[in-house]
Amino acid sequence: MEFTEDQHRIWARLYANQLPRARKHACSDWLRGFDILKLPHDRIPQLEELNAVITPRTGWRTMRTAVRYTDAFPWYNDHFIKKEFLITDYMRSWEELEFTPEPDMFHDIFGHMPLMVLPHYTALQDMFAPVFRRANEEQRENIKRLAWFSTEFGLIMEEDEMKIFGAGIISSKSETDKVMSGGTKMQKFRIHDILRRDKAITTFNEVLFVFDSIGELKEELRSYFDAVG
Ligand SMILES: [Fe+2]
Repeated sequence: MEFTEDQHRIWARLYANQLPRARKHACSDWLRGFDILKLPHDRIPQLEELNAVITPRTGWRTMRTAVRYTDAFPWYNDHFIKKEFLITDYMRSWEELEFTPEPDMFHDIFGHMPLMVLPHYTALQDMFAPVFRRANEEQRENIKRLAWFSTEFGLIMEEDEMKIFGAGIISSKSETDKVMSGGTKMQKFRIHDILRRDKAITTFNEVLFVFDSIGELKEELRSYFDAVG
């Protein structure tokens, strides 16, 4: 896919701004995956380059979509079930460097793809589509909320330090700064607390959730998913 020089420059600026924050605050899995994936710092990578690393390791692959914000139904039902992760063609503008309410390709690639090279992480992503398919409408809203507060905005404890797990925080300067400066209330990742929370798509999240490990997160999700359908 062709990008403009300006889009490449936006990517390079975002990468330069965000990598030092990620090096300091991202969880160890994201950092490990980032070193494996080796994203270019000065240009938007092609998906073939990403898939060459991701697919042999996890069976997942990335696909382009012109849709700016894919609905949960096609996201899970048509793509996640086939281990396809959609990357939007949309790239934020210079005015939205620090925060974009709509996930763009920098979010999709820089935030999500480092983790997608790790099989124990894609095993977590593998859990969502089957349960989404058999869920009713109300349960689907709950599943979306659980994804939001885990893979998008979750935090993880590593040796008594809170680290960023969610791609929505890792790919955003203002989200990272707000969360790491203590500006967000934190609670343990517990299903019954999360299901009462609304997602904050256009503003910052008032409360975020912390888990001790991906294993604990999976257990917690499983306790809800097993009861669906
Ligand atoms: Fe995302």
